[in-house]
This record gives sequence, structure tokens and C-alpha cells, in this order.
Amino acid sequence: MPEQLIDVSQIPKIPWSELGPEFVQIWGRADPADPQPEHMEVIGMNGSGKSYFVYKVMQERMIVRNTPEIAVVTKPDDKTVFKLGWPIGDSWDFVRKNRQCIYWPRTNKLGKARKAYHNTKILELLDRLWHPNSNTVVSFDEIAYLESLSPDLRDTIQMYWREARSQGISIVATKQRPQGTDRHMHSETHWTVCFVPADYSDRERFAELLGRKQDWMPVFDVMDHMNHEFVIRHTRTGDTFISWVDQPLTPVKPRKADGIQGIYGKNH
Ligand SMILES: Nc1ncnc2c1ncn2[C@@H]1O[C@H](COP(=O)(O)OP(=O)(O)OP(=O)(O)O)[C@@H](O)[C@H]1O
Ligand SMILES: [Mg+2]
Repeated sequence: MPEQLIDVSQIPKIPWSELGPEFVQIWGRADPADPQPEHMEVIGMNGSGKSYFVYKVMQERMIVRNTPEIAVVTKPDDKTVFKLGWPIGDSWDFVRKNRQCIYWPRTNKLGKARKAYHNTKILELLDRLWHPNSNTVVSFDEIAYLESLSPDLRDTIQMYWREARSQGISIVATKQRPQGTDRHMHSETHWTVCFVPADYSDRERFAELLGRKQDWMPVFDVMDHMNHEFVIRHTRTGDTFISWVDQPLTPVKPRKADGIQGIYGKNH
């Protein structure tokens, strides 16, 4: 077997209450002189804690940096998103009026009509958001579903992965399975967050997402899925931690603009 590159005992295991404050400071500004948005992918099976983590981080970023943020949701029912405490709407006008918000195009439609509705509403948002100095964090819950809606939306999402940073946009995307999503997500991502699968047989696929199977399987062995533990890794530097959200996600109201040029900028 090839030499082990990752030494499990060297990976710090730190609760999010300690790691989070530092993360939210450096996310997208490792070099303070040249802040650059950084995308994040969050992978984990159903119920592993992806949304809980993503919304915790978005809430922390609001509290510390007051960045404009949009949580895009399409699931018919997602109790975790209510814990954000942000207003819910589905129009561009609504997004402009709420510095942090949940964009959730809810509908009673089913099947194809439902997908067509989601497709139109998400495309509308992504088209409007695409402008210089957008300075926004946008999260997509289950990005594989969005990519499946139409070639148009898939192309737009690809463009977001490749070029959104130049508009000041950071993407946070969750996904239940490591395989199947467009390769842009993986190659353009800066932070990979991977929840440990409950079932041993799924661990190999998840391990391969982080690198070599033989390196990452032992890392999963020391993680507890019951505690919603995850690996967080900066893909460029290789900095890696094991963490878990140890403080409850409770609703916090959105903030007002504080002079940062964002989606409230004069031209928009
Ligand atoms: N760190 C945590 N502490 C306490 N409860 C948690 C934690 N993480 C997740 N949970 C709870 O576990 C459940 C599943 O979490 P969550 O909704 O984040 O899963 P998910 O990975 O987004 O699942 P899905 O793929 O179905 O959307 C929720 O009831 C959530 O409140
Ligand atoms: Mg979820």
C-alpha cells in the first residue's frame, strides 16, 4: 500500500464554537490586502447536518461581517432553514429589500410543472444577481437538483462556479452524494466540508472526494456521525480540521446595510 500522506492523529479536532469565529474572519480574505470570494461545497447524506452547518456559518458571517446573503431553497419542507430567522420570499424585489434572506420559490405544483417553476425562479434570481460588486454569499441547497432542472440553469450554475468570484459572489453548495455533480463544483471550490457517512459502505466514495481513499478512511474512523461531525478542508493550503456544530442554531434577525456596497448598491 502506498505511503500514508495524512496522519489522522495530526488533524485537529475542534468544536465549531472555537473554529467558527476564526473561519468566518478568514473566509474569502486569507490575504486581507486582496480579498477574494471563496466557494464551499458541503457533502453529506440526508440528515447528516449539512443545512445546520451551512446556516450556522451564514448566520455567523452576517453577525461578524454583515455580508448580503441569500439561502436558496427548493425542498417542499425543510425545518432546518427556519432556524436561520431570516425572511422568506421569492422575488428579486424581496431580495433587494432584505440584506439576508431565504429565497424559496414554494409551489403546490407537482412533477414537471414544479420543476419548470423552480427553473424559472432560480434562473431569474441568478440573472439578476450577476453584476459587478455583487458582494453576496449565495447558498444552494441540493445543487444536483438545480442542475437537473434545465440545460440553461446547468450552464448558469457552471458559469457561477467559474466566474462568480469576479462579481464578488461566494457560492455555498450542499449535496447528498459525492458523485454526479458537474466537475466545476469540485475544481472551483476552496473549502470542502464532508460529513462522515453513517454507513461504512458509503465511506469509500466520500473519502475519494477528499483525496486518496487510504488516507481518508482512517480519518472517518475517528469521527462520530451521531455528533454530526465533519471534515473541513481548505483545498489550496490543505489545512484540515475535524469539527462539529456544538452550539444551537437559533433564529437571528437580518441586519441593515452598513455602507458596504452590495446588492443595495445605487445601480441596482
Ligand atoms: N450540530 C447539530 N446539533 C444539533 N442538531 C443537529 C446538528 N446538526 C444537525 N442537527 C439536526 O439534525 C437534523 C438533520 O440536519 P440537517 O437538516 O442539517 O441535515 P441535512 O444534511 O441538511 O439533510 P438533508 O440532506 O435531508 O437536507 C435536523 O433536525 C437538525 O436540527
Ligand atoms: Mg438540508
